[in-house]
Amino acid sequence: MPIINVTTRDGRSKAIEGRAGRSLMENLRGGGIEEILALCGGCCSCATCHVYVDDEWLAGLPAMSDDEDDLLSTSGARAENSRLSCQIPMSDALDGIAVTVAPED
Ligand code: FES
Repeated sequence: MPIINVTTRDGRSKAIEGRAGRSLMENLRGGGIEEILALCGGCCSCATCHVYVDDEWLAGLPAMSDDEDDLLSTSGARAENSRLSCQIPMSDALDGIAVTVAPED
């Protein structure tokens, strides 16, 4: 099971046992990270699953789609390492990935 290291908005860290084949968003929510609202259910239309991915993991992620890029552009909290967690499929290759929940827009 790939481990996801997540830092929540209050700065607390938690390690979650993820499941490959589900999105990072689904794994975060399944691990009790309720700050990830995921209001659209993962269809890339709400941006409430916004996370910052630690730099060392960015290159190993699937490329960002135009839809994800456009939606992130509407966020005032966008950073170089922003991703929408619903657009990242978890896999064993991402074991140990570290993300931080982005501030609420
Ligand atoms: S859950 Fe809505 S964009 Fe990711």
